[in-house]
Amino acid sequence: MSITHLSPRGKVGIDDSDRSREFGRGSSPRRAWFASDFHLHEGDPAGVERACQFIAHVREQRADALFLLGDVFRAWLGKQSLEEAGLAPFLEALRGATQSGIRVVLLHGNHDFLMGSELEEACGVEVYRETLDISVHGQRVRLMHGDAFCTRDVGFQRLHKILRAKVMRWMFARLPRRLLDNLAHRLVHDATRTTGTKSQMTMAIVDSEVVEVLHTGVDVVVCGHVHEARDVSLGTALSGGRLVVMADFERTGSHATLEEGRLLLHPVDARFAPATPGPIVVTIDGPAGSGKSSVARELARRLGFPLLDSGALYRTVAAQALAAGLDPGADDLAPLAQSLELGLSEGGQVTLAGELVPDSLLRSVGVSAVVSKVSAQPGVREVLLPIQRSAGRMGPGLVAEGRDMATIVFPEAAVRVFLDARPEVRAQRRLAQNPGEGATLSEVSTALADRDARDSGRLHAPLARAEGATLLDTSELSLEQVVGRLSGMVREASRLD
Ligand code: DC
Repeated sequence: MSITHLSPRGKVGIDDSDRSREFGRGSSPRRAWFASDFHLHEGDPAGVERACQFIAHVREQRADALFLLGDVFRAWLGKQSLEEAGLAPFLEALRGATQSGIRVVLLHGNHDFLMGSELEEACGVEVYRETLDISVHGQRVRLMHGDAFCTRDVGFQRLHKILRAKVMRWMFARLPRRLLDNLAHRLVHDATRTTGTKSQMTMAIVDSEVVEVLHTGVDVVVCGHVHEARDVSLGTALSGGRLVVMADFERTGSHATLEEGRLLLHPVDARFAPATPGPIVVTIDGPAGSGKSSVARELARRLGFPLLDSGALYRTVAAQALAAGLDPGADDLAPLAQSLELGLSEGGQVTLAGELVPDSLLRSVGVSAVVSKVSAQPGVREVLLPIQRSAGRMGPGLVAEGRDMATIVFPEAAVRVFLDARPEVRAQRRLAQNPGEGATLSEVSTALADRDARDSGRLHAPLARAEGATLLDTSELSLEQVVGRLSGMVREASRLD
């Protein structure tokens, strides 16, 4: 299979009538590499170095073409960016690649839509504004950044339209340098802030938008932008097609290759990814009914991290105490806790003598009634501490939920959140989720108020917000909104590392 044709949409420096160029003209590279979202900037020499290594690799592989699908730069400001010393090695690598005969194509992303003829002239590359169609063995492959598919993000689409309008480009080119700096700062700052607070759902690709493109005769869409790799079949039986989304190169080294007729997605490539900074621990503390458990479970699922439900450890000790006929209010339960063969499964679930402890037992009325007395015993807390800390070393990261995750167990966690909600909201949620707390709203409210008082009033590791932890009131927020906000914080934290 070979790429046989190139047909540009929105080639920089040419008139819009060129957009209608026939699909089916152009050169025909056989081996091509694709990547996006490098987010290169002066402050990240290691990122620039990895991008250069990638280009060196593409040259070694004797590629005919390299397609970079947007957000190669964190903010491109035209001529001014050409002079940034920190970017020089990468620009030099681009120049080297084109001089060696590789066709290098850059598409605009939402951070670098001011790339233009200055870059083409300096490095011998081709820059396109919107999309580029190539033909691979008779199949029409559309290359684009991908932000145009995220139509749920209405605010972003509006800004995108304004900033990328031709007339705005004319204005940008004439902005005084100081104002251009301001603009760059705003773009980078707004982009990081909005990704931190918007839900993943809002920012995700809307598949029906891709299907619409596939219905126009496109067979494969290749893009980036959303930072999660995906390779799926979409569309109907009549006009099916394929969507290939590369993860951001910056964090994963993700790219795609076209070799021997096969277009392959590489979701991660450790050769080009930054050295892992160690597990990212996310702590979620808060009172019962604040949404902790549901949020933690969903966040862990999305991130692929184990989940530590620390309350389940206290509940297991409470259940064993009840089974042994001990009184959690009077007896010292530390020796009991010490004697139990407590552990954690790979996913972070509590095990007793190597077996998962059934949820129905942990959440039973009897256990719920005594568990806060168990958890108030300092001896018990001491026994359970190393088990909880061991969870932080189990996977690429950890989501840990409880009462003292940020204050005692993981004070160094990268993301620390304290969830809360109004008491009546918490009681309603608890009633819906967990009949173990009581049968009526007023029973549940009383049980929660008692437990809150005991958990916050106890001497050892009381429920409290850690210094610097982010407080989030979930009373008016949906699960999706809270999870979206937290996953944004995790993305930010991993980027800062
Ligand atoms: O989150 P939960 O309802 O399963 O917690 C059960 C009890 O354990 C609750 O009274 C608070 C206590 N607990 C604690 O003291 N420290 C933790 N890290 C987790 C739970």
